[in-house]
Amino acid sequence: MGNSDSKLKYQTTITEVSIIEIPRVHDERGILAVVEGDSIPFDIKRIYYLYDIPSDAYRGGHAHKELYQLIVPLSGSFDVKINDGRNNRVFSLNKPHKALLIVPGIWREIDNFSSGSVCLVLASNVYDESDYIRNFEDFLAFKML
Ligand code: TYD
Repeated sequence: MGNSDSKLKYQTTITEVSIIEIPRVHDERGILAVVEGDSIPFDIKRIYYLYDIPSDAYRGGHAHKELYQLIVPLSGSFDVKINDGRNNRVFSLNKPHKALLIVPGIWREIDNFSSGSVCLVLASNVYDESDYIRNFEDFLAFKML
């Protein structure tokens, strides 16, 4: 069970990273966007957010072994560059109702932050440094590449 689970995690590809459209309730008072349990494939155990981000900031530069994340551009815009060890792709996030679901085993880098941007992250687990892979060579080894 444990083995087959981790096998799946290291086999993930960028095709499994996708934009999730967050349902909205829109009326004359504005827009209310809701992320509920059944709209994402994990239980939310942690929420964190980045703000006051310098425009030249580079964030990420790591992968996670087990963690799922939903990245929401609450305000402004930024680019999320993902890599599965073979292929890469860039998602430019700039709408608060279009979030990026990142599965485990994907290298990510985030940059090109607009002024005043806010990056909200919903995560499937609490913070655990041992879930990080912070070196790209280690990441390739994790992916068996
Ligand atoms: P890190 O995950 O490397 O940031 P990013 O991916 O946005 O570049 O985390 C930066 C620092 O913050 C690092 O020292 C770990 C710490 N941290 C926590 O203490 N708790 C958390 O939930 C997160 C995400 C990071």
